[in-house]
Amino acid sequence: MTDTVIVTDEGAVRLIRMNRPDKKNALTGEMYDAMAEALETANASSPIRCVVIAGVPGAFSAGNDLGDFMKAAMGGGGLGTAVLRFLYAMARTERPLVAAVQGVAVGIGTTMMLHCDYAVAATDARFQTPFVALGLIPEAASSLIAPRLMGQRRAFELLVMGKALNGAEAKEWGLVNQVVPADQVEAEAMKAAQVIAALPPEGVAISRRLMKGAPDEIVKRIDEEGEQFRKRLQSDEARAAFTAFFNRKK
Ligand code: COA
Repeated sequence: MTDTVIVTDEGAVRLIRMNRPDKKNALTGEMYDAMAEALETANASSPIRCVVIAGVPGAFSAGNDLGDFMKAAMGGGGLGTAVLRFLYAMARTERPLVAAVQGVAVGIGTTMMLHCDYAVAATDARFQTPFVALGLIPEAASSLIAPRLMGQRRAFELLVMGKALNGAEAKEWGLVNQVVPADQVEAEAMKAAQVIAALPPEGVAISRRLMKGAPDEIVKRIDEEGEQFRKRLQSDEARAAFTAFFNRKK
């Protein structure tokens, strides 16, 4: 149990709320495990028909905790088992995922959109993946899914050049479905989730599977990226970038 992730079920809709507001919802191992658990237990015979992932006002997620990346960089580690468990859970989830994004959505805060079936963003949302600037490479199979979704050029600008997108731009690029004022994001996401949850579940599951393709392909790319990511974490570039982040206020 952790209070940094709050899971609540409203009828057939499960809400997973990332809740570490003082750190802009930077994700820790404990949080990844709790989120993975919430996704895994919504599968199979669970009465849950749709899962909403939300953050807090001003922060969907600032991405992976950079302190944890620093520890992995110093200790020879990679993304870590909790991160991978969460990525696999997203890739293999049998239930549609809906995102409700307010404020910052950095790194995995953005790449999560690629696994979501429907996404609502606030006008104040800010999507960004500064992987390469941090000495890293894209993760969560984003190197596979983003070019399919938005085309190679935009995917390069987003994932490699680190271009930031506001809500309206994210919609134009196909990253989200809907843009609304921040105080309406969760209500709109829940509304979409209720619509999905009310549809015949087998039809939803089969359609979704046909549209997304085999999860194994996604998982394979997660692993390929993970191998490169582990090597990049050990790079001088990455260590220097993490150190610069934690020294920026000094
Ligand atoms: N890992 C660890 N701590 C983080 C974090 C992260 N990814 N993102 C934010 N935080 C912490 C900050 O260190 C700060 O902690 P402090 O109050 O103890 O100093 C707190 O969260 C608030 O962040 P702050 O930078 O003061 O807020 P901001 O509104 O000025 O900026 C961000 C928000 C998200 C733009 C900025 O924090 C940022 O760039 N974070 C790093 C994002 C990132 O690179 N993620 C990894 C992607 S792979």
